[in-house]
Amino acid sequence: MPKTIIVANWKMNPLRKKDAKDLFTKIKRKGNNLRTIETIICSPYIYLESLAPGQTSRITVGAQDTFFEKEGAYTGFISPAMLADLGVRSAIVGHSERRLMGDTNEIVAKKVRALLDYRIRPILCVGEIVRDERGEYLDFLKEEIESAFNRLPEAMLKLFIIAYEPVWAIGKNAQGASTPADFLEKAIFIRKIISDLYSQKVASSIPILYGGSVDERNARSFLRDGKAQGLLVGRASLNLKSFATILAEANTL
Ligand code: PGA
Repeated sequence: MPKTIIVANWKMNPLRKKDAKDLFTKIKRKGNNLRTIETIICSPYIYLESLAPGQTSRITVGAQDTFFEKEGAYTGFISPAMLADLGVRSAIVGHSERRLMGDTNEIVAKKVRALLDYRIRPILCVGEIVRDERGEYLDFLKEEIESAFNRLPEAMLKLFIIAYEPVWAIGKNAQGASTPADFLEKAIFIRKIISDLYSQKVASSIPILYGGSVDERNARSFLRDGKAQGLLVGRASLNLKSFATILAEANTL
């Protein structure tokens, strides 16, 4: 049975290692009992080393980004080789907050490839910044996807995860979450793009998650009505009660 993937994006939180370990342990206690859920905790780089040894088959850790080069004179960067060495199994890439800091589609594509070379699962974030009447935002989305795949060998795609996150729905200043019906439409659109690049079989094998203002009240409807294969949760992932409810709701479907 395919698992539902719930990704926690802690962003630049919490401030202390002790709190990161504590939250991870408590989430693990909840998540380890849920047979149909795979939970990926994407913590700041600096905590990964202390969290990774506690990974289980149901709860793993991920990074929130990576650099694309393996090693060398790149002050302040972290390479996928370093992540792999710590036992990190996935990494968010192309998050809108990184794109805002300068990650272009070309850079995102290089990061995706670098992660795959180390067998780390890329959680590729895509999503339009704003919507326009003429539907040009769909071309924007298409471009984000096509460039990230950039002729990757089909054998590598097994590791791929996509998170559709309309940028206007992310964060505390967002307009609020999108709707399950809208997500469903966008997921079909994304699959069609992948199907044109590869095949329908490949397109249907890649999990597509929803992200953007997910909380304990809307999680279930995105999974059930929107048929999302998982969720990417920002703010609500830092609140144990909310996140545990999201996990429990997902496990009932
Ligand atoms: P949010 O963040 O759940 O706080 O909107 C989601 C994200 O940035 O991935």
